[in-house]
Amino acid sequence: MRSAQHWVVFTGAGVSAESGIPTFRDALTGLWSNFDPEDLATTEAFLRDPDLVWGWYEWRRAKVLKVAPNPAHQAIAELARHVPRLTLITQNVDDLHERAGSPSVLHLHGSLHHPRCMRCAKALDPPQPLDTSQGEQLLAPPVCVDCGGLIRPGVVWFGEMLPEQALTQAFEAAAQCDLLLSVGTSGVVYPAAQIPQLAARSGAWVIHINPQNLALGSEREFQLTGAAGALLPLLVQQVLAD
Ligand code: APR
Repeated sequence: MRSAQHWVVFTGAGVSAESGIPTFRDALTGLWSNFDPEDLATTEAFLRDPDLVWGWYEWRRAKVLKVAPNPAHQAIAELARHVPRLTLITQNVDDLHERAGSPSVLHLHGSLHHPRCMRCAKALDPPQPLDTSQGEQLLAPPVCVDCGGLIRPGVVWFGEMLPEQALTQAFEAAAQCDLLLSVGTSGVVYPAAQIPQLAARSGAWVIHINPQNLALGSEREFQLTGAAGALLPLLVQQVLAD
C-alpha cells in the first residue's frame, strides 16, 4: 500500500450502509428484499407506473439528504489527500462521497440528484425533498418545461447503458492502477463488477473490504472481513503512519 502510486477505490452500497442507507441485497434489510427491482428499476416499470417509481426514488433521495457520510467515506477522502493518485469509482447513486470531501467521483450508476427529461434529456433541478415520515408514496413525476416529457430519476436502470465516459475512465484506471480497494459491493452487477477483476488481471493488488467473505479470484487479492466504517479508518491510519 505504501509503495502504490495509483490507487483505485471502487465502492458499492455497503460503504453507505453505516450512514443508514440500506444496501440492495443484504437479506431482509436490502431494498431488493422488500421491493422487486422489476417493478421499480427499469424503464418499463417507469412507463407502466411513473407515480410508483418516481415516488420511490424521491423517498430514497429524501432519506439520503437526511443522513451524513460515515467514517468510511471520510477515510477515502483522507486517503485521496495523501496518496500520489486516487481514482474513486462508485456504483452508488447517493452523494455521500462528495459530501465527505472526495473531489471527483465517477458515478457508474448515475445519481439520485440529477433527474432529467425522459424525452429530451433536459436536466431538472431536483424538487423539494419528500417528507419521509409518510414512508413510500405515489408521486407524479414533474413534466419537462421544454418538451412536456416526463422527468425521470437520474439513475441507471437495469437494462440501460452506463454513462460511457465514466465507464471508460473507470476501466482505464482499473487497468493502470497499482492497488484497488473494493469496498462494500457484492460484485454481482455487470459491467461494474468487472472493475476489480480487470485490476487483478492487470497486475494490481486487490483488497476487498466486506463483512461477507467474497470469492477471491487470484493470489493478488486479499479480503479484510468487517465493516468499512471500522476497517477503512484503521487501514488509512496504517498507510499514512510514518
Ligand atoms: N461495510 C462494508 N460492506 C458492507 C457493509 C459495511 N458496513 N454492510 C454491507 N456490506 C456489503 C454486503 O455484504 C454486500 O456484499 O455490501 C455489499 C452490498 O451489496 P449489494 O447490496 O449487492 O450492493 P452493490 O454491490 O452496490 O449493488 C450493485 O446493484 O441493485 C443494483 O444499481 C444497484 O449499484 C447497485 C448494484
